[in-house]
Amino acid sequence: MLDPFCGSGTSLVEARLAGLDAGGIDLNPFAVLLARAKTTDYDLSTLLRQARQLRQFVNDLVRRGVEVPSPSFYNMDYWFKPEVQRDLALLRYGIERVIEPEERDFFWVAFAAAVREGSNTRRGEYKLHRMPEPALHAHSPKSLLLFGSGLNVICVDYKSSFGSENPTPAPKYMNAMCEQASPCQPIVWIS
Ligand SMILES: C[S@@+](CC[C@H](N)C(=O)[O-])C[C@H]1O[C@@H](n2cnc3c(N)ncnc32)[C@H](O)[C@@H]1O
Repeated sequence: MLDPFCGSGTSLVEARLAGLDAGGIDLNPFAVLLARAKTTDYDLSTLLRQARQLRQFVNDLVRRGVEVPSPSFYNMDYWFKPEVQRDLALLRYGIERVIEPEERDFFWVAFAAAVREGSNTRRGEYKLHRMPEPALHAHSPKSLLLFGSGLNVICVDYKSSFGSENPTPAPKYMNAMCEQASPCQPIVWIS
């Protein structure tokens, strides 16, 4: 099955559960990240071990007061408070150093949720607007906690969909790859 506009991969997940070989393409790199994370065979105990290592690593940086370089982009201070920038930078630094490349997409998904929750973006709508002043003043997200709870949620979700305790017979391994489709980056699709 080929889904040439696979979005976050719902059809790919269903293909996997149906035991089909499948491939997906999307021009949105975030959609590709989600689709890839949702259709990769992860070992839950490996995810949990790496999550513990990451927590120790980041907590150690915090305890020692280590500052890591933040990215810099247009209007960054408008969208993220300084403490959120600092914590997200620590997490990103930790993920890149502690998490094995095979598991990294899974952690980027939780990271993306922490970015969204930690930002000053108004909630409950697609349009990108900053929160109004009173809400912004009260907004003090704890990015490290948001990341940890996001990670828990997707672990539980993943386990109930594909985990070994799930009564659904193990799906046939989906031999598929989603790659960002762009004029300068050809699609890679392995069947
Ligand atoms: C509604 S979503 C697809 C949902 C998906 N088929 C599923 O089953 O979950 C549409 C997707 O098409 C992607 N898209 C739109 N135009 C595209 C193009 N020219 N090439 C690749 N992807 C495209 C968008 O980025 C978006 O993620």
